[in-house]
Amino acid sequence: DWSASSFVDTTVAALKEQVGNDRVILGLSGGVDSSVAAVLLHRAIGKNLTCIFVDHGLLRKNEFKNVMHDYECLGLNVIGVDASDKFFKDLEGVTDPEQKRKIIGRDFVEVFNAEAHKITDAKWLAQGTIYPDRIESLNITGKTIKSHHNVGGLPEEMHLSLCEPLQWLFKDEVRRVGRELGIPEHLITRHPFPGPGLAVRILGDITREKVRILQDADDIFIQGLRDWMVKDATGNDIALYHQVWQAGAILLPVQSVGVMGDERTYERAVALRAVTSTDAMTADWAHLPYEFMAKVSNDIINKVKGVNRVCYDISSKPPATIEWE
Ligand code: XMP
Repeated sequence: DWSASSFVDTTVAALKEQVGNDRVILGLSGGVDSSVAAVLLHRAIGKNLTCIFVDHGLLRKNEFKNVMHDYECLGLNVIGVDASDKFFKDLEGVTDPEQKRKIIGRDFVEVFNAEAHKITDAKWLAQGTIYPDRIESLNITGKTIKSHHNVGGLPEEMHLSLCEPLQWLFKDEVRRVGRELGIPEHLITRHPFPGPGLAVRILGDITREKVRILQDADDIFIQGLRDWMVKDATGNDIALYHQVWQAGAILLPVQSVGVMGDERTYERAVALRAVTSTDAMTADWAHLPYEFMAKVSNDIINKVKGVNRVCYDISSKPPATIEWE
């Protein structure tokens, strides 16, 4: 019978043995897996672990700042790299979804490697790869491969060895290990978020202005899910956020007519997506309460300049996907 505490004990001991006094580099994404891998390694080797967190400018509102703060509270040594200028420049005018992913994957590896190269005595590259990732990367769909999480990002001429302490774990086990390590609950229960970030939730070309609009709308939706309490199956209060596998806003490439005061408006439409799932392979649209949707829709239209219409996506996967791109 698997237990998180014995996993932590044996893995910390094994990592000490494996890595010894070598220096290790690890890429953080803000997600659960890389965070748990980092804290586990930090417990084993302390200051010999250096983490790199690249900001491509396509994260959620305030995410980079908030997550950096969380990492610092956990005692991790993290180098935060704001590379958003490079990503926005390289993405300028690009509308094709796969092209966006390619550019982001390539830029990500470039930025990460440039930073890793500064740590000249590093011997290991650690990653938060979990068991389903390894299965998934055998399945060459192009879309499910997480280019910045896999071995493709390894700076070859640095001769780093790969260290993947979570490679045999499933997601729920990673979460239990994270709790055992004292990682805060909001980091552990965070929804999945795609590596290319908001780039695949802005249909059409990407600009800083569009990212700003989407971040604001998305933030209202996500904060709303966190604040809206419902009863779970056993009658306990639970935030709607935790009844949903994943949620987010999508900026549509259409404008529509509206009215504000006596003025006609011609502004953007935002789609909201929330799904229930157990593994992201299949998903159903979440049956969110109407009162909740009414409030979120009002808040978005009243507070986010440039948006005058909100739609809710009621498509299941398959045949739709969770993301729109
Ligand atoms: P789809 O849209 O294929 O998404 O139903 C399934 C899950 O994968 C996430 N996703 C990605 N994650 N890089 C990632 O790291 C990507 O390019 C990517 N595309 C989709 C998506 O958010 C969902 O959890």
